[in-house]
Amino acid sequence: MTNTQVTDTSNFYQGHNPQDLIEKYGSPLYVYNENIFREKCRTMKNLCTYRNFRVNYAIKANTNLTLMSIAQQEGLAADVSSPGEIVAALAAGFPPADILFIANNISAEEMQFAIDRNITISVDSLSQLEAYGRLNPGGKIATRFNTGIGAGHHTKVITGGDDTKFGIHMDYIPDVKALLKKYNLQLVGINHHIGSQYADELYISGVEILLDVARQFVNLDFIDFGGGFYIPYNKQDGEKPYDLRPTGETLAVLMQDFSSQYGKDVTCMIEPGRYICAESGVLLGTVTAVKQVGAAKYAGTDMGFSVFARPTLYESHHDIEIYRTGEIDGLKEIVNIVGNQCESGDYIAKERLMPRLYEGDILGVLDAGAYGYSMSSQYNHRPRPAEVMICTDSSLQLIRRRDTLEEMLANQSFN
Ligand code: LLP
Repeated sequence: MTNTQVTDTSNFYQGHNPQDLIEKYGSPLYVYNENIFREKCRTMKNLCTYRNFRVNYAIKANTNLTLMSIAQQEGLAADVSSPGEIVAALAAGFPPADILFIANNISAEEMQFAIDRNITISVDSLSQLEAYGRLNPGGKIATRFNTGIGAGHHTKVITGGDDTKFGIHMDYIPDVKALLKKYNLQLVGINHHIGSQYADELYISGVEILLDVARQFVNLDFIDFGGGFYIPYNKQDGEKPYDLRPTGETLAVLMQDFSSQYGKDVTCMIEPGRYICAESGVLLGTVTAVKQVGAAKYAGTDMGFSVFARPTLYESHHDIEIYRTGEIDGLKEIVNIVGNQCESGDYIAKERLMPRLYEGDILGVLDAGAYGYSMSSQYNHRPRPAEVMICTDSSLQLIRRRDTLEEMLANQSFN
């Protein structure tokens, strides 16, 4: 009996053994598969047949330079959310014209940072539009709208509708126009992002509303419909790969109709983060202790929420595989798989029915390539793990080494 069907089916390890990877690079460890990453980039690139279609990889999902540079080679552009991400995107080889800074509550210094590097900014409030106008009168700017529709796998990631800080409400379109005029700004694009990990009919509803907003502005260069594309996190329960083709086809039709009415082939942009990198990453870790607490069974691991925060933050489900040299016996039990940090919220899986776990088992947390490493921290002074890539030719590449205990002290001055 095994429970490695998901990675076996995708040939994730390409002949490598997770135990050997841990031996070589240490535990815990993020492992990426280049083939899968490239395939996801290509699926997105080919999503829509509209002539001017651009895919901006939302690099907040995974800012590893090697992965970003592969996305760039595959013809993707970049969506960034901070000056740090601008620096990372430039370092990975994205030209400034291929970087869109979707900003939220940034300082004048941060705006200037982008302006100095010729990077287009999208602002998401009237006050930020005014701040931009003061800083760079006559400049080019984009604005993010709240189109009144929100969606997502958790309230914390819903970014449209009534209960969110994001975007300029559509009621304020006249005020946007007034500010553009006041500072002689050219509105080059509009965008929205309604949330993360939701079904695609809502994506298309959002597209229709944002196109209505677009009709109220002249001479736009681009319309950006955001990210949020759904990926199947429950493959062990038979959840199938998500078919995005209908979304792409509808998007193409809507954009073609819009452009012919508008009289210009406006660029259509989307911003997938999770879809590009989630399924190309597995987090490997080790069971360091097993214990019974009353009726509850705990398997303690080295994958605390400083390494992988999604289950703790959003109660997200991730499939888990077991890699063991011996056989997996038929015993199944309900277990809490937890980390090594001093908070009770520190878990990877709650009350999960799993084959019985033993100390020394290597576990693989699947679909961990998005918002895994990029949301990791050094809480409890635990070093962030290394990242390794299984390349197309099956060779291994260490693409980020583990933090050292010493360098975690390096920013402090202490007498
Ligand atoms: N565009 C904008 C403006 C965004 O804010 C985001 C994500 C994206 C695109 C990409 O969304 P995606 O395609 O990855 O769903 N940490 C959370 C997700 C937060 C998403 C924040 N914004 C998680 O682990 O589920």
